[in-house]
Amino acid sequence: MKDGKGELFELELLGGPTEQRFRRMRPEVEAMPWGTMDLSKASDAARTAARLAWTGAAYQEHRTAVACAMTLRALIQARAPIDLVAVASRFPLDEMVHVELTARMAMEYGGGTEIVHDPKDLVLEPNPEASALMQAAECAVRFFCVGEALSIPLLRATWHVARHPLPRAVMGRIVKDEAAHGVFGFTFLDWAGPKLSNADKVELGKGADLAIRFLYGQWREMRKARRDQMHEGDVLGWMRTDDYFAKATQAMQSQVISPLEARGIPIGAQLSELSAHLH
Ligand SMILES: [Fe+2]
Ligand SMILES: [Fe+2]
Repeated sequence: MKDGKGELFELELLGGPTEQRFRRMRPEVEAMPWGTMDLSKASDAARTAARLAWTGAAYQEHRTAVACAMTLRALIQARAPIDLVAVASRFPLDEMVHVELTARMAMEYGGGTEIVHDPKDLVLEPNPEASALMQAAECAVRFFCVGEALSIPLLRATWHVARHPLPRAVMGRIVKDEAAHGVFGFTFLDWAGPKLSNADKVELGKGADLAIRFLYGQWREMRKARRDQMHEGDVLGWMRTDDYFAKATQAMQSQVISPLEARGIPIGAQLSELSAHLH
């Protein structure tokens, strides 16, 4: 937070006909087996760890919703192809569903934990001086080619470790939606590529470096707080294992760095920067 002051990250549903419309848009949410996890054998520490992890996940989904909305606006202003924009217009809704799913998982474990945040400082805005096309490209690269593309294999692996039907249904839904998000950034770049100069691509590479190094920083923090999965529903505990970091670094190369470089976007934040800290 820039000014040290913040607001609590709390969410609500309006209910009534608005909620009914929302439920009709995504009926699978209510069909999930809510309230079926047996937590009688889960220790207090396990419950708290799961509440923290799922609340953190809800906050990340919330930030991603802002990033998707910001990208969508930039795409429209850049007069990106109508079908491409239309496909991206579904993404903010998907993310709101993910926010609800992850927040409800925290509730299953006893409730959300406290997150204080600055709602006006959730994601980095694109360069205000850049052209509409470059603003859209910057959003596509930072949020989609890096953030969303990387998350696909990691979410899929998290889904595979889920044993209980509830977290399995939640992760399965998220994995399905994210598949479309993950390819979107590269579809955009394949359209925009011929309109971008080499200097533009160098600029986009700097944006990618920023987003990649942000993730490297997160991984280092996660690595410090390693823990084992403590309850069968606590699938997010898996995100601090050796296996997770092995998958994450592999995905960073194959899903992010290599495909960006193949499109002429130079990447400075190579994995070699990270390995000294992680191993
Ligand atoms: Fe999401
Ligand atoms: Fe997403």
